[in-house]
Amino acid sequence: MAGGSLGCNILAFPEMTLFREAAKRVVELARGAIAERGHFMAALCGGNDPRPLYALLATPEWSNQINWARTHVFWGDERFVPPDNDASNFRMVNETLLSHVSIPLQNIHRVLTELGTAQEAAAAYERKLKDAFNLQDREFPQFDLMLLGLGENGHTASLFPYSALLDEKERLVASEFVKEVEQWRITMTLPVLNNSREVLFLATGARKAEIVNDVLAGRFSPRQYPAQLVRPKSGDLVWMLDTPAASCLKKDAA
Ligand code: 6PG
Repeated sequence: MAGGSLGCNILAFPEMTLFREAAKRVVELARGAIAERGHFMAALCGGNDPRPLYALLATPEWSNQINWARTHVFWGDERFVPPDNDASNFRMVNETLLSHVSIPLQNIHRVLTELGTAQEAAAAYERKLKDAFNLQDREFPQFDLMLLGLGENGHTASLFPYSALLDEKERLVASEFVKEVEQWRITMTLPVLNNSREVLFLATGARKAEIVNDVLAGRFSPRQYPAQLVRPKSGDLVWMLDTPAASCLKKDAA
């Protein structure tokens, strides 16, 4: 099932196929970016949905198709917990993917949550982005891949409903205490997400069906559904869903 009626490419697959198709897409993006620009800059997400993708990419069949020496990994958002905490997005991606592949340590750009406050960690991560992408003032990084998940409340990265961060125009990275999850979060901002060459949303399972439909086919209510604000300026917007997550979408939407 594929379509573009909502200004993006929505692809739905049987559960078994979804992660292979997503892995294929990541490999293609990596190859294209490395061929054109010499490196692949990827921002990854936390949550449960992408775990099987990371695990698949960690297998020799897939990991051998990626030039890890030329791949740089960042996090679109991070929970403000130490890197060895169960809730750490770095830890999850490291355990499922990075520790199994031959990526140089200096290509792993995690949020340093163990130093200072959440605000300080966000500011330090912004500086890291500026260095890694060699940015001048007022420039935004351009990721080859911005992998995003979707919360059941419509949040993505750590951009939660009704957050003041939805209005951020200048900072690349910001922090916020999110009441809903009782946790400080550090997140790339919308100008960064929307400057990506490709934004790839991955959502799975029946529990995501309603929110997938609200975000993609419901009324435009971006404060309520921050994921609706992710509209790359010139890059591609792709949604990859499994059949249960796509089950509320009308046939002509997906
Ligand atoms: C995080 C994320 C977040 C996630 C959604 C969906 O740190 O939690 O990066 O944006 O993608 O909350 O999470 P699930 O895949 O667990 O539903």
